[in-house]
Amino acid sequence: MPFCGAGSKGKAISIVETVIIEWLSLAIRWLHVIAGIAWIGSSFYFIHLDLSLRHRAYLPQGVQGDAWQVHGGGFYHIVKYLVAPSQMPDTLTWFKWEAYTTWLSGIALLVIVYYLAADLFLIDKSVRDISAGAAVAISVASVALGWLAYEGLCRSPLGRHDLTLALVGYGFLVLLTYAFTQVFSGRGAFMQIGALIGTIMVANVFVIIIPLQKKTVAALRAGREPDPTWGEQAKQRSIHNNYLTLPVVFLMISNHYPLVYATRFNWLIVAIVLAIGPVIRHFFNARHAGRASPWWTWGVAAAGMAAIAWLSAAGPRGTDTGALQAAPTLTQVEDIVLSRCSMCHMAEPVWAGLASPPKGIMLDTAERIHLHARLIDLSTVRSHAMPPGNVTEMTGEERALLAAWIASGSAR
Ligand code: HEC
Repeated sequence: MPFCGAGSKGKAISIVETVIIEWLSLAIRWLHVIAGIAWIGSSFYFIHLDLSLRHRAYLPQGVQGDAWQVHGGGFYHIVKYLVAPSQMPDTLTWFKWEAYTTWLSGIALLVIVYYLAADLFLIDKSVRDISAGAAVAISVASVALGWLAYEGLCRSPLGRHDLTLALVGYGFLVLLTYAFTQVFSGRGAFMQIGALIGTIMVANVFVIIIPLQKKTVAALRAGREPDPTWGEQAKQRSIHNNYLTLPVVFLMISNHYPLVYATRFNWLIVAIVLAIGPVIRHFFNARHAGRASPWWTWGVAAAGMAAIAWLSAAGPRGTDTGALQAAPTLTQVEDIVLSRCSMCHMAEPVWAGLASPPKGIMLDTAERIHLHARLIDLSTVRSHAMPPGNVTEMTGEERALLAAWIASGSAR
């Protein structure tokens, strides 16, 4: 991920700085993905294990059930104690650093990719003309406040009604997504809602699940009876995390797909994904619990994906391509791309902070412009992903010209 936020301010950035930030971004992203795999992997594993536990006659009192598993050349016999065993073991394996590492590395990436280059990736002046400082402040504050609001919902009387809580929580996330798309660039809004959901999930581990488990262990060690509601509360948050996992992963990879984040109904696309994820999880949860597999869930998920594809084809907000009758001349097209795109998309970009053409895409000669017609269509006409944050101030008219060029067939 290139760092180019300072470019628009005309500040010179040394090549060393550019290369260091690029590699820091790569290293942290690597860590983030690995920590995320470890966290999601262990959480899916435990949800599956929990659902597959079976009562058996030979199990002692206070045991919820057991499960037999085979993996890596050995057999595992796992027994789950409700609350706790009568005698505490000397050593316990805790699962928390996967979650914390995912969050810490994710926040570091948010800062490097989005905050340091807010002009390009967080702000879109055609959405809202705010300063980089304001955008970062809104981003940080809304993650903190969003999490507090979720926490408040869970602790309110509503928290005792799982389904109502889920529906209200869903409405809350959709509303916030819509609000974010009115403040940030599409891409920034997607990352923002993803960061909020990720924060909620990690906070569930840090603020609720682990402290309650610690209290339980401490009570048992002191010979006191732990409060059984502690386990229920932790379980509720763990289920929330389970249902939020698939949407959050979608949001994290969505920034590579301009049609998804930089088109008119981007917020609706998020709303649909927030529903598809839980529906797919429901399939696996039912199956792992040994119930009849709810195959209908795949029908719903497929319909949702088709709806997303259809919505993403609706194009960006506010481009009027109908205004243009004649196909533009090739010189017009080249002039637009050369003046709005090529300062970044050339062998040695003149945009400060860019060491090489982003994604290896060069748009500095007539031939290359034609070669990349499909990508230009995708990023500039069918979506408003490029120029990022519209930093080079491409006009609606110019986009309409490019659209007419694509539509005329002379682009091929
Ligand atoms: C300020 C510099 C800048 C300008 C100006 C710019 N781009 Fe980009 N472009 C980037 C960066 C940075 C990326 C990589 C984004 C990322 O890493 O996700 C990129 C990525 C792309 C991609 C690849 C998208 C993908 O599939 O990942 C295309 C296509 C593209 N730009 C086209 C254009 C077009 C067309 C224009 C002019 C209308 C343009 N760009 C103007 C910086 C710029």
